Amino acid sequence: MDRNLALELIRVTEAAALAAARWMGKGNASAADTAAIAAMHHNLTSIHFQGTVVLGEGDPEHAPALFAGEKIGDSTGAVTDKVDLALDALESTRSVAFGRLNAMSIAVAADPDSFFVPPTLYMEKIAVGAAAADVVDLNAPIEENLSQIARVKGYSISDLTVAILDRERHHELIEVVRRTGARIHLIPDGDVAASIAAAMEGTGIDLVVGSGGAVPGVLAAGALRCIGGQLLARLAPTTSDEAEAARKAGLADINHVYTARDLVRGDNIMFAATGVTDGDMLNGVRYRPDGATTHSLVMRSRTGTRRMIVTEHYFDEGPDY
Ligand code: FBP
Repeated sequence: MDRNLALELIRVTEAAALAAARWMGKGNASAADTAAIAAMHHNLTSIHFQGTVVLGEGDPEHAPALFAGEKIGDSTGAVTDKVDLALDALESTRSVAFGRLNAMSIAVAADPDSFFVPPTLYMEKIAVGAAAADVVDLNAPIEENLSQIARVKGYSISDLTVAILDRERHHELIEVVRRTGARIHLIPDGDVAASIAAAMEGTGIDLVVGSGGAVPGVLAAGALRCIGGQLLARLAPTTSDEAEAARKAGLADINHVYTARDLVRGDNIMFAATGVTDGDMLNGVRYRPDGATTHSLVMRSRTGTRRMIVTEHYFDEGPDY
């Protein structure tokens, strides 16, 4: 596939973000999610490609749209590109419901069989930018990782800012990081946005550590395959049933450390994300009397292009969100 699909996918993430953003602060995460999914689904059907949803809203029995295995796109006319899709119409649903940081709509496209398909469980993760890509080690203590990252970036540890999901399971990790002198940016949700921010210059985040969703880990890996940097991840089942599910899915070595390239293989990856609420990397949707403004990130691994796109939408000339 030679075309930059991400430039078409941005219309999909913009539509999902606009649909979800009206729900900000209304306390209804599932309504925001439903609106985003419907808008994403509708807009994907008009892209001229043969898309297959590989990571989406779950099994066909539980998800009416964007379920794993769903074929989507306009495949009429001339031969169209075959594309696998990893989608989250609304990553960080709670952030929309409560008007908090980091909700985004995300679409990642790649050649068939590029995506690692994890079972539904947590992954331990560490994400950094290109400067520190070769020195992080998920098997090493966090103190050692911080010291290596500071060394290669020419910082002292107290200059580093570490993003960590604000969860009880991270209390010990937070204490250890505090003792090193590094600064901590606690995020209520959205480790995808934080991981991308860690890989970009000037965001004020140097790394993300801790456990979070496995699917968000794959989405973040897709972004980091485009930007550079590294995301290392290891499955983190919390019960013996989850460990058994991983084994049944063929993932016998539960301690295996996956790199970003293991999570999203190949060299033809296209990533689009649009902010729903303000975040570590993108602004959220801003409404005006006649429309709204969206902020998106569009990237392609093959060319290394990174576009920050600000779009002015006028509602009298399109769908009224
Ligand atoms: P959702 O899109 O499912 O709401 O995920 C938001 C998120 O914060 C992810 O960014 C993160 O990886 C995961 O939830 C953490 O899971 P938990 O809330 O169970 O700690």
